[in-house]
Amino acid sequence: MVSVSLAHYLQKSVEPNQTGIALTNTILCLCNASKIIAKALCENGLPDNQLGIHVGDINSDGDSQKALDVLADKAIISSFTNASIAAYFSEEQETALLLEPDGKLVICVDPLDGSSNIDNNLSVGTIFSILARKSKIFEPEYIMSDALQPGENQLASGFFVYGPQTSLILTTGSGVASFILKQGEFIQMEWEPSIPNAGNQFAINMSNMRYWSQPATDYIQACLDGVDGPFAKNYNMRWCGSLVADAWRIFRQGGIFLYPEDSRENYHVGRLRLIYEANPVAFLVEQAGGRATDGNVEILKIEPKAIHQRVPLIFGSKDDVFNYESLY
Ligand code: F6P
Ligand code: MN
Repeated sequence: MVSVSLAHYLQKSVEPNQTGIALTNTILCLCNASKIIAKALCENGLPDNQLGIHVGDINSDGDSQKALDVLADKAIISSFTNASIAAYFSEEQETALLLEPDGKLVICVDPLDGSSNIDNNLSVGTIFSILARKSKIFEPEYIMSDALQPGENQLASGFFVYGPQTSLILTTGSGVASFILKQGEFIQMEWEPSIPNAGNQFAINMSNMRYWSQPATDYIQACLDGVDGPFAKNYNMRWCGSLVADAWRIFRQGGIFLYPEDSRENYHVGRLRLIYEANPVAFLVEQAGGRATDGNVEILKIEPKAIHQRVPLIFGSKDDVFNYESLY
């Protein structure tokens, strides 16, 4: 196969109108930021792990910010040139960061997903969702509504994984493509992510079991019962603790990821964030033939109410996700 650069792929797959050009430029800007983040991570061991240290602030999630969270957020903001972005929404920013008054797009980002894994030489990533700006007035309360569109309105979404490879899974609305960073450039991989209809792996943080709702408890019990249970197949368990890494595996092998609601304080609506974690992943998942739900409603149909809103997130192979939904 002739190697195709991401820039070339975008030229073929995105309309060359004003919004399309803005979209292409935004994705290429994010790639530039991802190279800075990947390099910082590669060198994290020299002279000593510094990127996982707490740097003080509690971010919008109530998690304390680590050095790499801040570095990633800054690298992304500084990467934006000719991208026509009206506003940037980030896990690391309390509110909208207004950028270009005539910007055509808004972007919602989790700059560094899986930050508990930073110092452990495990995969982490950057997740992004790009939407068309609808507001006419360049003021925070108007721009805010642009980020609160249902996920089905996304123009593009994707995530970078910083692991053994620096890689990207991307959708611009017609299928999903994968890229790998090679000699400074993102090159398309032959692999077209497509989620098999059924899998035999589940990913969930089992340590929360005692807090789960009945459907989540029943579902995992059915998986554990294997060939003797209602699903009549044996499951294996994988849990990376980085959404991006667990998602990557599901794009390759199928299976199901669950971060359901639970009875802990602040977790009754799940843990993950709707506009910069669940929506971009759900868009990719649906484009790859899988399914994403909060248990009751498809993720992409939810009308967000707040920029840091949490949501239960269950996604993966269609049949597996249907099985989960049937317990609701
Ligand atoms: O961004 C949130 C996140 O780090 C995800 O990447 C991951 O799936 C999840 O939290 C793990 O959460 P916990 O370890 O708190 O269950
Ligand atoms: Mn995250």
